[in-house]
Amino acid sequence: MTDSTQINYLTEENSADVVCHRMQNPNDPRLAKVMESAIRHLHAFVKEVEPTYQEWEQAIEFLTATGQICDDKRQEWILLSDILGISMLVDAINTRRPESATENTVLGPFHVQGSPNREMGDTISDDGQGVPLHISGRVLDTDGNPIDGAVIDAWQASHDGFYDNQQPDVQPEYNLRGIFQTGEDGRYWYRGVKPCHYAIPNDGPVGQMLDAMNRGNMRPAHLHYIVSAPGYETITTHIFVNDDPYLTQDAVFGVKESLIGDFQYHDDPALAAEYNVSNPFWSVKTDFVLTPLKNA
Ligand code: BEZ
Ligand code: FE
Repeated sequence: MTDSTQINYLTEENSADVVCHRMQNPNDPRLAKVMESAIRHLHAFVKEVEPTYQEWEQAIEFLTATGQICDDKRQEWILLSDILGISMLVDAINTRRPESATENTVLGPFHVQGSPNREMGDTISDDGQGVPLHISGRVLDTDGNPIDGAVIDAWQASHDGFYDNQQPDVQPEYNLRGIFQTGEDGRYWYRGVKPCHYAIPNDGPVGQMLDAMNRGNMRPAHLHYIVSAPGYETITTHIFVNDDPYLTQDAVFGVKESLIGDFQYHDDPALAAEYNVSNPFWSVKTDFVLTPLKNA
């Protein structure tokens, strides 16, 4: 903490020091450290920007609107953190892994609890819309050994870019969602549909802010996963579609090179029959590599 017994009244020059100086003998040293840093950065920001009263009022209105649109389904604060790149930064800090392990990316607001358990080979498409996609691979440890009993929670947007919970009157509940469990060989395989890029929710203050910054609001097409196994760190990740035009424009900065899948187009009736999909179709093969828990 700042040790300056001379500090009394706040001036433009000493503002951050005066505020931090009030935190004498904090009850929670971690909170005090976080707040001191937040206060110092905020004061430096205000000194750099020199907002007018009107601008400061606009900022307060923006933050107020961001809070007011939140409810149990809509989390505009997380969306704000996403579009500022903060979600991905916090994620990077908290998921430093060996190079061979699968990287994390954003969870997003469309994950739900209670997805149906499905058998390997099943389709997660309950409405039969879109071009079939065969998805397969293995769940491995960082030494390349298969992981038995890994749980793969998979979900994805539809062929035209909507999750079931965005379209409750159009898609059946749990459409394009499923939970799979690997066996001894660590393999997984199932059928979905080729996903499409989509706009993140843009009918609130975050959407207005993206517009004001002249920034796009698209996410490149992707498949979502949470992969877990006893004794291993759970990963939250995506497989991105490699031909998507928005790969370098992701509104929430979730793309990592290692997460771009090798999607292949097939016009091959025999292979389609083998994969139990209609022809033509797409396929992608991706292994998920998990890191052992540090104190397992
Ligand atoms: C998603 O991929 O579902 C998502 C992630 C962050 C913000 C909005 C959507
Ligand atoms: Fe998504």
